[in-house]
This record gives sequence, structure tokens and C-alpha cells, in this order.
Amino acid sequence: MKWLGETKVTWLGHATVLIQTGKGTNILIDPFIEQNPKYPTDFQLPDQIHYCLLTHGHGDHTADAVTVAARHGATVVAIYELAAYMQAKGASQTIGMNLGGSVRLDDVTATMVEAKHSAGIQDEQGTHYVGVAAGYVLSVADGPVLYHAGDTAVFSDMKLIADLYHPQLAMLPIGGHFTMGPSEAAMAAKLLSPKAILPLHFGTFPPLKGTPEELAKLIGPEVFVVRVEPGRALTSGN
Ligand code: NI
Ligand code: MN
Repeated sequence: MKWLGETKVTWLGHATVLIQTGKGTNILIDPFIEQNPKYPTDFQLPDQIHYCLLTHGHGDHTADAVTVAARHGATVVAIYELAAYMQAKGASQTIGMNLGGSVRLDDVTATMVEAKHSAGIQDEQGTHYVGVAAGYVLSVADGPVLYHAGDTAVFSDMKLIADLYHPQLAMLPIGGHFTMGPSEAAMAAKLLSPKAILPLHFGTFPPLKGTPEELAKLIGPEVFVVRVEPGRALTSGN
């Protein structure tokens, strides 16, 4: 994927993705590590993770956020209420933002975009309101534009995301049950017209039945559906 330039994208199972820019900025999205059955156990995270981005409060997207913040010095970026919750749980550096806004993360501009999904967080005290579910568009300076959709249904304003930001890589949930499945993701591909799709949120648990093969069959040859083992980086050379 030549258009990735010097940026590396590594899927770590479920919705966990590591982005590393050529300038050395490391961003981890939705850290689900200890309890993630698809996490590549031999994978070594970089010592320093500058930013940890959260799409919403559900445990399969936030379980290891405080640990990553502490061990790797990461600033946690999330919707305002979720950022405040993470701060209360021990993340010392946080950036709270909201839908439609952008923040500068060194050489990356992160824009928070809509997602259609629920978004509470559960702990010993019950379920807490932590804002709404979101996705992120990451525009790397002199590099690619990447879209991580978070957990979501397909929605027609994905066209707006395409018109505004032109993502080349769309990271989309395809497992079904809690998010869209392959047929909805095929429609998302039409709305987004990316160069490639990195399927997320499938196969982790038995109900998440959608597969990249089904998606590839539905959308045909014009959009490349990435099939990769967790832990193997996507680069300009593959
Ligand atoms: Ni969720
Ligand atoms: Mn999820």
C-alpha cells in the first residue's frame, strides 16, 4: 500500500490498532489487550505510546487504557465525559474532545466523527454515562488519512466523512451482532470510497460472525479488503 508512505498500521485483534508515523508518533486506538483472545501475545508494543485514542466506553475498547497510559506514558484522547472518567481512574494526561472537533497530536490531526452505537462504561459501581460513541479520522502530515470507525452501524453521513477528509484506509467493524456486518460494511465502502478496508471487530467472540472474505465478495475488486494476521504491520511495501 504505497500511499501509506512512512506510516505503519498494525491491527492487534478486535478493534485495537497501532498507528506509527514516519516522524515517530505512536498512537494506539482502543486498547484491548489482556482479555483480547485475538491479541498477538508475542507482539511488543513500542516503549513509548504518545496517544491512546478511545472510540467509546465499552470494555472491549477501553479495558487497558489506564495501564497503557501508565506504562507507555500515553495521553488518553476520548470524548469529553469518557476522558474525565479515565482521568478519575488514573490516566494522568487526558484530552477531552467532542464530535466534529479536531486536535493536533504532533504530526497527526485527529478529528472525532460520528458513530452509531451505545456508549456506557461498566465498573463495580454500575454503568456510567461517558458520552456517545465516536470514530476518528487521523490525517498524518505528509501522509495518509486513516479512518477508524469505532463500533458502528452504517450511516449515510459516512459520505460526509469521505467528502471532508478523503480517507484512504477505512478501518471498519464487520462482525455483526454489536456492529454492522459485511453487507452493511459493503455499503459503508460505497459511501467512503477508500483505497483499502481493514476489517475490525470480527471473530473475537462467537457472535461476531462476519468475515473479510464475505466483505470482499460483496464489494468486488475496486476496494482492497485487507486480510492480515493480528500483529503484522501494513506498510507502503505490502
Ligand atoms: Ni461497543
Ligand atoms: Mn465493541
